[in-house]
Amino acid sequence: MSRNVWKYIVSILILFGLIFLLRSITIEQNWNYQRVPPLYKVQNWIQSSNLYGSLLRFHRNRTCPHLGQPPSSEEELEERNLLDSIDWPQPPSGSAPPALTQTSDPAHSLFTIVPSQNGQRWYVGDQLEVQVHLHDFNGRHKRYGGDLLLARLHSPKYKAGVAGQVLDHKNGLYSARFPLLWEGSAQVGLTMVHSSEAVAVLRRMREKQPDRVYFSSIFRRGSHSEKMECNVCLLQDKGPLCNFTDPHSGDQWYCYKPKMLSCDTRIDHAIGGYLENLITKKESLLFKSDVNLKVPIHASTTDTINVLPARNESSSQKPGPVQLGTSGYYYQDSWRPFGGITMRRFDEASAITKCLTNKLVYMYGDSTLRQWFEYLLTVLPELKEFNLQSPKKVGPLMAVDSTHNILLEYRFHGPPTRIQPIRVSKLRYIANELDGLAGGPDTVVALGIWAHFSTYPVEVYVRRLRHIRKAVVRLLDRAPETVVVVRTANPQALTQDFILFKSDWFSLQLDVVLRVMFKGLDVLLVDAWQMCLAHPYHPHDLHPPRTIVQNMVDMMLSHVCRDGTKKIV
Ligand SMILES: *[C@@H]1O[C@H](CO)[C@@H](O)[C@H](O)[C@H]1NC(C)=O
Ligand SMILES: *[C@@H]1O[C@H](CO)[C@@H](O)[C@H](O)[C@H]1NC(C)=O
Ligand SMILES: *[C@@H]1O[C@H](CO)[C@@H](O)[C@H](O)[C@H]1NC(C)=O
Repeated sequence: MSRNVWKYIVSILILFGLIFLLRSITIEQNWNYQRVPPLYKVQNWIQSSNLYGSLLRFHRNRTCPHLGQPPSSEEELEERNLLDSIDWPQPPSGSAPPALTQTSDPAHSLFTIVPSQNGQRWYVGDQLEVQVHLHDFNGRHKRYGGDLLLARLHSPKYKAGVAGQVLDHKNGLYSARFPLLWEGSAQVGLTMVHSSEAVAVLRRMREKQPDRVYFSSIFRRGSHSEKMECNVCLLQDKGPLCNFTDPHSGDQWYCYKPKMLSCDTRIDHAIGGYLENLITKKESLLFKSDVNLKVPIHASTTDTINVLPARNESSSQKPGPVQLGTSGYYYQDSWRPFGGITMRRFDEASAITKCLTNKLVYMYGDSTLRQWFEYLLTVLPELKEFNLQSPKKVGPLMAVDSTHNILLEYRFHGPPTRIQPIRVSKLRYIANELDGLAGGPDTVVALGIWAHFSTYPVEVYVRRLRHIRKAVVRLLDRAPETVVVVRTANPQALTQDFILFKSDWFSLQLDVVLRVMFKGLDVLLVDAWQMCLAHPYHPHDLHPPRTIVQNMVDMMLSHVCRDGTKKIV
């Protein structure tokens, strides 16, 4: 046969092959969509992710197991339970995402206050329930859940506010519940942070593009220097690696090896940049600031109720605010926490100084914790910053009041940190710092680590927290009277340009993990999430305003200087 005939036959075969392939893909997708269990979906994802080849810098199955120490079976079980606890409903879209007009539209959605059992009368101590109906851009009912909604009840007049608990009924309906904690008129606010379709995009980013924020280090010897990319995980086939995994804490970190220099010439660490063009034009329409990104949902009729004074019937059957999951509320701009802590206000510098006299206060975390350091520095006239010649935003920072023997230290947590260059010699992991503390009744440790982990699969955060938790347990074992305070994540202002790197959905998922992992330990949790969500007039901000920071620091101080400092071990 001639060459041409062969060519012809081969072409036909290829064509048939393609048709068959396409057909089987569509069939499989339909089938997936119908009844494939979640695990299978994950594997499917992993397979299709190979299409992206070099973009998948992490590993075929999530947290580069080949690069880190393998978790024990106990740790693996904990990890699985944690991941289950943050399971988020997915839109049933299989491979074809719905048209934009079929995605959730806050402008077409509504909420309704559920009438009380007492003929529209509400009393302090009752619960308020609100029903939210999500609609798409055509005004049609949504049929599935997975949207991220935030709820708040507030009274501007009393500067009072409380966060609501949102329940996803997974059919386009949501309930929000609020404990009624003060008298007077109170207004319900509901916000759609993301549509479920937008969450699906964020989830895909988190699993498939964990290197969308990347880091860099300069390696230098003499006059020769090279800048290399670094991350928790790197593709091994893109060149040899330098392994900067911490030998003590076990936290992993890698850079590509410089061409001319050895690994031990690394001098600094900094943010490298943000990957661009990660989503399609169509997908970017799911993140429009005044359309479907943190946009209020309106009430069908009224959003306001009047709350009457508590009835004095014995109604202890009703679930209290704590059962609802409420950790506190604002009244006159003061946070009133539940859960056994007596909140004091430290309006006078002298009261703070008295509380902190002879104390060593160590703060380890991101910039949201650095705000505590900065706050104390501005309110305590006798507390002087000691110049360690560090960049202000990166630290380490130190402040001393030598009259009252107060020491304050702040350090950023170890990488990943999206910061301006910091010397490698000043980079520390929290776990290692904790292991270096003697601890004791005069030692206060405040931790706040969350914002720089939002771009990674949750396992990366779990592992980091596990190392920190082990160090906290060791610290409390050797010095049980040490005060340990943990600041949680908080909602923030969201912008479409940065949404793939900073979203409340990422933060919320990490926040749930943080709470579960520190549960049962003798640490005070400062619920930054609810403190920001509940605030009656401040908009969300990655770095909450001073009023909120003061409440957080007051809460820490209330705990540090509570009566009967001795703890039962
Ligand atoms: C994950 O990776 C390991 C090692 O590369 C492999 O043995 C295992 O089968 C993978 N698991 C899945 C679910 O793909
Ligand atoms: C990097 O170092 C750590 C700790 O020494 C080790 O467990 C890990 O396997 C190393 N990674 C690679 C890719 O060699
Ligand atoms: C309930 O309140 C009323 C009026 O405030 C009071 O007279 C009455 O004694 C109270 N009852 C109980 C059981 O406390």
